Amino acid sequence: MKVLVATEKPFAAVAVDGIRKEIEAAGHELVLLEKYTDKSQLLDAVADADALIIRSDKVTAEVLDAAKQLKICVRAGAGYDNVDLDAATAHKVVVMNTPGQNSNAVAELVFGMLVYGIRKFFTGAAGTELLGKKLGILAFGNVGRNVARIAKGFGMDIYAYDAFCPKDVIEAAGVHAVDSQADLFKTCDIVSLHIPATAETKKSIGKDLVGSMKKGGILVNTARKEVINEEELIALMAERTDLLYLTDIAPDALDAFKAFEGRFFATPKKMGAQTAEANINAGIAAAKQIVGYFKDGCTKFQVNK
Ligand code: 3PG
Repeated sequence: MKVLVATEKPFAAVAVDGIRKEIEAAGHELVLLEKYTDKSQLLDAVADADALIIRSDKVTAEVLDAAKQLKICVRAGAGYDNVDLDAATAHKVVVMNTPGQNSNAVAELVFGMLVYGIRKFFTGAAGTELLGKKLGILAFGNVGRNVARIAKGFGMDIYAYDAFCPKDVIEAAGVHAVDSQADLFKTCDIVSLHIPATAETKKSIGKDLVGSMKKGGILVNTARKEVINEEELIALMAERTDLLYLTDIAPDALDAFKAFEGRFFATPKKMGAQTAEANINAGIAAAKQIVGYFKDGCTKFQVNK
């Protein structure tokens, strides 16, 4: 079988080596399409692929139409909002993700961004500390749990809300479980977003929630830009000159946010999962899932069942 790794943002070379080993050891062929700049390159490359490994690469109905041989697509990562699941199902393509494999990398970046933000973007001006601050984690999945683990080392007071995770699971992790998103934002000095982009969450973080934060509130986004109501957040930050927004995903209205000098920071390119370890974990998991699917029909981690 031909396995295509199509990554506009490539894996670390060491991860590609690992993926290649898994694929070739099982008797399959690996083809690489990295740093592609045009959709047509992806459309050409998928034409004879039996399996596809992607990251945030968009797998649309058009891509699936072009992928005549495709049987399985694995998103090496957590969020699969970049894959048209209905079209994949219609094309009889199994879609999987690799949950948890890159979550520590994303969680560590939360603290990198936080320290950078509260230390005044390393200008040398007096900043603040994380010790004793109330951190709100929205939601308590793989990344959220890693954020909680690391926050303990900083001596933070940790809160979480997750619509799908029982409160006792949150409490058992040494985290205060609150009753709603609204409570989380009202209670905490800092809120870190770990929700997927779904019909329910898109544009859900706006003036009501962020505007309810205490003076000096900080919003950290290593999740998806789509969950932010950008218009509302821009208007709010213009009014509330105490708020700080740190994001790993450049907003659509980047220039408007950049005007909030000293209160806004976006990484130049989404980099939460961009570590060798995360690339190895997620990439090799994806390769193993493909090998397992072709060998035994294993559909664990399928997301379009
Ligand atoms: C994910 O959903 O796994 C993360 O957002 C990482 O995405 P990336 O593979 O594009 O870095």
